[in-house]
Amino acid sequence: MASLTQHQAMPRRAMIRTTAGAALALSLWSLAGCNNEKPSQFRGIDVSGANYAKGFTLTDHDGSERTLQDYANKAVLIFFGFTQCPDVCPTALARAAEVKRLLGPDGDKLQVLFVTVDPERDTPEMLKSYTQTFDPSFVGLYGDAERIAEVAREYKVYYKKVPTGSSYTLDHTALSYVYDPQGKLRVVLRHEQTAEDYAADLKLILGNA
Ligand code: NI
Repeated sequence: MASLTQHQAMPRRAMIRTTAGAALALSLWSLAGCNNEKPSQFRGIDVSGANYAKGFTLTDHDGSERTLQDYANKAVLIFFGFTQCPDVCPTALARAAEVKRLLGPDGDKLQVLFVTVDPERDTPEMLKSYTQTFDPSFVGLYGDAERIAEVAREYKVYYKKVPTGSSYTLDHTALSYVYDPQGKLRVVLRHEQTAEDYAADLKLILGNA
């Protein structure tokens, strides 16, 4: 399924992912808000009023404990991944940097957060240097394995280790969750969508479409 990574190309695994992805898409749709009177203007999935992804308590790459409220007054884009990700995460973070650029002067009103799903290997230092490669304002967030599992459950994020000989990679959900400056979850954007799609939804959220 498109919403998940494709770090490996084994057909069997792809089939499992397709099922998981379809289930995820369904659960996202069924959890979308009750504002169905008028069609959403968002290019992503309108999840206004959804009863999940309500927030997190994690540690930022400088060691401070953070919650969603710490980023109030900004639109917040959250993405889950890991620094050794070969393809999907770098693409997502490069796109997020492009989105910030496309927002022009409003780019400063966007906070991008990157939550590791590989707490075993991703140190705060690695998360910091990784996220800042894309934009100095991006923040990496981490927690212990239990905390990450908890936050992933809250966000309905799927992640799973995939052995690669002596090491491992991870399959993970590649959706971006976007909050408005009031801290309300508004839209979930898919990995296949363009920086322009993301920027269009963020302009709506920032009231500057
Ligand atoms: Ni990744």
